[in-house]
Amino acid sequence: MLAHGALAFLLLALVQLAYCAQDYYKVLGVDRNVGDRELKSAYRKLSKKFHPDKNPNDDTAHEKFVEVSNAYEVLSDENLRTIYDRYGHDGVESHRQGGGPRQHNPFDLFSDFFGGGGQRRGPPGKPRGRDAEFKLEITLADFYNGVDTQFEWNKQHICDHCDGTGSADRKVEKCSTCNGQGVVIIKKQFAPGMFQQMQRPCDVCDGRGEKPKNKCPHCHGSRVVRKQTPVDLKIERGIANGEAVVFEEEADESPDWHTGNLVVHLAEKRPSMEDNPHRLDGVFFRRKGDDLYWTEVLSLREAWMGDWTRNITHLDAHVVRLGRPKGKVVQPGQVETVVGEGMPKWHEDGDSVYHKHEFGNLYVTYEVVLPDQMDKKMQGEFWDLWEKWRAKKGIDLHKDSGRPDQPPVRDEL
Ligand SMILES: *[C@@H]1O[C@H](CO)[C@@H](O)[C@H](O)[C@H]1NC(C)=O
Ligand SMILES: [Zn+2]
Ligand SMILES: [Zn+2]
Repeated sequence: MLAHGALAFLLLALVQLAYCAQDYYKVLGVDRNVGDRELKSAYRKLSKKFHPDKNPNDDTAHEKFVEVSNAYEVLSDENLRTIYDRYGHDGVESHRQGGGPRQHNPFDLFSDFFGGGGQRRGPPGKPRGRDAEFKLEITLADFYNGVDTQFEWNKQHICDHCDGTGSADRKVEKCSTCNGQGVVIIKKQFAPGMFQQMQRPCDVCDGRGEKPKNKCPHCHGSRVVRKQTPVDLKIERGIANGEAVVFEEEADESPDWHTGNLVVHLAEKRPSMEDNPHRLDGVFFRRKGDDLYWTEVLSLREAWMGDWTRNITHLDAHVVRLGRPKGKVVQPGQVETVVGEGMPKWHEDGDSVYHKHEFGNLYVTYEVVLPDQMDKKMQGEFWDLWEKWRAKKGIDLHKDSGRPDQPPVRDEL
């Protein structure tokens, strides 16, 4: 009996443990092979979302906040992550008890991450560098499905051969041109015997007052180098056309400024057949916010008699079926609303444990084409048919219109 009770307790304890120790990848809503940037962005979003300041008196949010920061703390540390992947939570715990890196105040982590401690990189007082802005054109299909893409740009980096000193041996000397002042005084004679003094930054040392003794061979003393730099960009499902994706502090670097932001403006690429290897009809959808628009052409027979289908290949290759049974009329210009076949609605949590996408609508406008060629016999047969049914069933458009029978008579002066 006792043994039985103990077992039940043990089981209960195990269930509790399993419940408390959620899978860290799931907590952050990321894949097991997630990269650094994506991990950061998941933490960024979720920690903001569940921050107690934003959710006063909400214990669940508070627990989530702690969970999210625990998960990020482990997964963002290469060593801990390897241990976690191999041995799970227990592995991480025993590593920590074995004198591993210290825990873990979720609020400290949060403020470290968002720079809340007021500690920014570099000495204070440096100006902020300019933002680097780009426009990136992507296809509607990529807006619909989301895509991990990469682009390169010619970014200025602080030279790592000389750590941004410009000097081969890290030694600098006073600039002899400006005598270390960083500025030079120019005397200008503007009238006989009258001089004006002007100051300008010394261009030998770029106004710094010192210059490298031996120039760094890599950057030739300029302290910075430009090189093609790849940027990983994650286009999230349903993100708006014209949206700007901001990479904080990833613009051009220089020892003289705080790095500005890299800003990527997303724009929709014009559709083209070449850009459509999978032959998706949806390439020619038109997007307005979360909705999509499509024009479908029907023959006179189809519009009038019904009994037709169309299979439109959507932007992720699933098929949207349009159609009418026999006898169902479609008026020219009629708009059909296909609920839920528009764009995915963008959400900060994307498709994850915290969120599933909802979709906008697809609006299909029907155009009807009338045959403009008929052979004589066909014309005759149709004519007879019209005459027969017009007499029996014809409608009087004038009467239906409700307009007065006679145009009102006007007095002419
Ligand atoms: C569309 O697909 C359905 C089901 O697969 C099929 O019965 C129908 O004939 C297709 N219509 C067209 C126009 O291809
Ligand atoms: Zn100088
Ligand atoms: Zn250098």
